[in-house]
This record gives sequence, structure tokens and C-alpha cells, in this order.
Amino acid sequence: MLIRPTTVADLPELFRLRAQTRENALGPEYLATLGITPATAAASLVNGDTRGWLCEVDGRIVGFASGDRTSGEMLVLAVLPDFEGRGIGRRLLNEVVAWLQVCDCPRIWLTANPDPSGRAYGFYRRCGWAPTGEASGNDEVLAYGVRQPRNAV
Ligand SMILES: CC(C)(COP(=O)(O)OP(=O)(O)OC[C@H]1O[C@@H](n2cnc3c(N)ncnc32)[C@H](O)[C@@H]1OP(=O)(O)O)[C@@H](O)C(=O)NCCC(=O)NCCS
Repeated sequence: MLIRPTTVADLPELFRLRAQTRENALGPEYLATLGITPATAAASLVNGDTRGWLCEVDGRIVGFASGDRTSGEMLVLAVLPDFEGRGIGRRLLNEVVAWLQVCDCPRIWLTANPDPSGRAYGFYRRCGWAPTGEASGNDEVLAYGVRQPRNAV
């Protein structure tokens, strides 16, 4: 298992992978409606606003994550179904968080599906993220290393 930084050449494969997760899959057509395409991802990777890491097993990309130092947002985290539960999500998340911390982001945050039956719900809480009580569309906003508000669920 190899964890390495994402390059522009990896981006088309990462967009394919993002559409293949067991839960919360997002296809390229949907991402394009949000203005997220391989071209926009490449531009922010090249100018240094974003950075990402991916995991390879036997030369195949099986997971990836990225963050944005201008906003402090953990942008994306995805692991292929057959590779869940092996610590890959946590390792990728750690890479992004460590970089955002080095960048002195005042707040490190992400948006996630608030359905408690989804794997991401318990995963983020287990990894040190807490709900802020804020929403972003249908998603909840979580922050890293912040004590959970008393009334948050
Ligand atoms: C959510 C996701 C990234 C988790 O990745 P993963 O590689 O399966 O997670 P890991 O194996 O690294 O788990 C890390 C820790 O979280 C724990 N964990 C994972 N899911 C959990 C859950 N639902 N409840 C409690 N703990 C959980 C693991 O037991 C592990 O604990 P440990 O390190 O103390 O042993 C992965 O399932 C995924 O890509 N899901 C689909 C896409 C997605 O939902 N992305 C998030 C978008 S909002």
C-alpha cells in the first residue's frame, strides 16, 4: 500500500473513482454542475491552493483525498468499496489535515452526509471531527479538533 501526493495526471482516474464509492458516490456530470471538473481541479492543484494524496494498492488507485488551504476545507475523501475498513480513509484524511494545519488554516472543516447510518458519519467522528451545528445544503458541517457543541447530535 502506497500513499503519495496527487498529480495532475491522476485527476481523470480520481474523477472515475469518485463515482464508484459504495455510498455518497458523485459522478463527473454532477460535479460539473458544481463547477468541479478535471480542469478546475488541475488549476487549483497547480497554483497550490489545493493539495491531495492518494492510495495505491498493486499500482491501482483505491482512494484519495484533498484539501483547500485558502478555505481550510477538506474537499473530498473517497475509498473504493473493496478497500474500506483497512485504515486507508484515516491515513488519507491525516495527510490532508496535517497539511491544512501546516498552512495555519484557522478552521479545518468539511461537509458530509448527515445520515447516521452511513459509514462517513461514524468515521469522521471517530477521526476527531465534530458537528458545528451548521448546514450546507443537505449536508452537515464538521470541524476538526473542536469540542462537540453540547446539543449537537
Ligand atoms: C468514509 C470512508 C472514507 C471511510 O474510509 P475507510 O478507509 O473505510 O475508513 P478507515 O478504515 O480508515 O477507518 C478509520 C477509523 O474509523 C472507524 N470507523 C469507520 N467507520 C465508522 C463508523 N461508521 N462508525 C464508527 N467508527 C468508524 C474505523 O473503525 C477506524 O477506526 P480505528 O482507526 O480506530 O481502527 C469510506 O467508507 C468511503 O470512501 N465512503 C464512501 C465515500 C464517502 O462517503 N466519503 C465521505 C464523503 S462525505
